[in-house]
Amino acid sequence: MRILLVASAFNSLTQRVHTELREHGHRVGVELALGDDLLRARVSHFQPDLILAPMLTSAIPEDIWTRYPVLIVHPGPKGDRGPSSLDWAIREGATEWGVTVLQAVAEMDAGPIWASEPFPVAVCGKSELYRNEVADAALRAVLLAVERFADSGFMPEPLDYSRPDVRGQLRPYHAQEYRRIDWSADDTATVLRRLRAADSQPGVLDELFGRQYFLHGGHNEDRLRGFPGSVIATRDGAICRATVDGAVWLPQLRPRRTPDGPATFKRPAVDELGPELLAGVPEVPVTPFEAATRDTWSELRYREHGEVGYLEFAFAGGAMSTDQCRRLLAAYRQAAQRPVAVLVLGPPRDFFSNGIHLNVIEAADDPAEESWHNINAMNDLVEAILTTTDKLVISALAGNAAAGGVMLALAADEVWCRESVVLNPHYRLMGLHGSEYWTYTLPRRVGTEMADRLTRETLPVGARRAAALGLADRVVPGSAEEFRAWVRGQAEALAAAPELADRLVAKKQRRAADEAAKPLSAYRDYELAQMRQNFYGENEPYHRLRRNFVHKVRPQVTPTHLLA
Ligand code: COA
Repeated sequence: MRILLVASAFNSLTQRVHTELREHGHRVGVELALGDDLLRARVSHFQPDLILAPMLTSAIPEDIWTRYPVLIVHPGPKGDRGPSSLDWAIREGATEWGVTVLQAVAEMDAGPIWASEPFPVAVCGKSELYRNEVADAALRAVLLAVERFADSGFMPEPLDYSRPDVRGQLRPYHAQEYRRIDWSADDTATVLRRLRAADSQPGVLDELFGRQYFLHGGHNEDRLRGFPGSVIATRDGAICRATVDGAVWLPQLRPRRTPDGPATFKRPAVDELGPELLAGVPEVPVTPFEAATRDTWSELRYREHGEVGYLEFAFAGGAMSTDQCRRLLAAYRQAAQRPVAVLVLGPPRDFFSNGIHLNVIEAADDPAEESWHNINAMNDLVEAILTTTDKLVISALAGNAAAGGVMLALAADEVWCRESVVLNPHYRLMGLHGSEYWTYTLPRRVGTEMADRLTRETLPVGARRAAALGLADRVVPGSAEEFRAWVRGQAEALAAAPELADRLVAKKQRRAADEAAKPLSAYRDYELAQMRQNFYGENEPYHRLRRNFVHKVRPQVTPTHLLA
């Protein structure tokens, strides 16, 4: 079938639908919803059998949905309607929710139902839920709807609130008035629900030190206590605020834009507030080892089970600043000293990594200089992984990775992926050559020609295709929790396998042979020479592309690489 995806952005879910439908043999085009006339022109040119909207925040014009079948993915169960479904689900503590694929009609979200899939609501922020449980359920629903559409005998179910399985309702936009936190009255559970319902967008509007900020994140703190609403601690760029019965961590803040002030964007909370406002607030660190046994916020956790060490890292949006890379490197070095045979790297769920931290770079006094520090810190981390020869290192991807984040994963001996994962192994969309030793690791895995193609085409790669290409070694279906349990079983089996010693000897020999053929420093020098040009050269697109990314500037037209 010819399927045209119409989306507000080529976001994670749209990318996933794109990769899956292509793998199912469909001809898939993408059109960003950037204006009715552009959409009309594209539809008339593409002549789709079906239009599918995986993530659309605007309406499709009537002359399109009356002439073509248009299916909309709505992140709510049957009967749920409105623009803030997930916000309401999280705010109200729903434990099960759904994704429904419905046909576009004049009334928003009221069309006949083609498929509806339930999912369990994990305790996490809205965007994380969206990229994980919602995306998995949406995929199931989309594939079912497309299959039913292909079967001309299927009749979609009209929306009928008298049916027992239609339990949703029409809900209003979840404005800031619903999100407000009363620090003198709301308990921690309520505060966390409000924060999570607003994370990562739009955040909860609140006041701190007499200024207005959108609060982002929302994680429990098990020990620290203080006067409700006050900032009682900092840790690795986050702030901790006391509630009436506990405390919560807020990793990021975004100042409210003043009427004639510049556009604002999210930054680590401590950077945003600065040392003057935070004078007297103690930095309360936690080691990765300790964090693994506590209910507190930490980007790093380290645990061991038998002969396997697990270094978990979880960075908001998968972005890794210079400081975050350095902290992860320190934790990695410690883990590498432990008497374990296998080391597993990766967050328990959500993004693995999306490379250098573009927001922190954008906010720096000298973005070129900060880019340079950041890429060098990333490279130091990757180098430490590449040169670990006394252990098998596994990258376990429960969630997506992009750009330098993919190359970080490739530094390990094996890459294991949850089937839902989408990889973007390229840098060009950010105007970068890229580093992280990719010129060593990527061709080594997929060959020079395919490495060139992947980095040039700039298209997402689904996990199954990644395995077929050699980008990933093992791929399994299932939820993030199932993946975690599977990883543990596989890692323990590796550590106990009699051939482990031989594998480690072979690994050491291969590294030595590779080093003799071309030292790692030569790859690094070459890549960094290109990156230096990207950061400091004249007429380089990187600074403009980064600014647009950070400020979420939408393109004028659908980028050419998305036109099928
Ligand atoms: N630096 C800073 N923030 C980043 C980031 C990065 N490298 N990568 C992702 N983010 C943020 C996004 O701004 C977004 O923030 P929000 O939740 O406040 O809106 C969040 O992480 C999730 O990203 P989003 O783009 O909404 O997710 P997606 O799944 O739709 O797309 C990517 C994922 C990776 C394709 C896209 O985020 C991307 O292109 N990132 C940049 C990758 C890159 O070029 N890195 C630098 C070179 S190494």
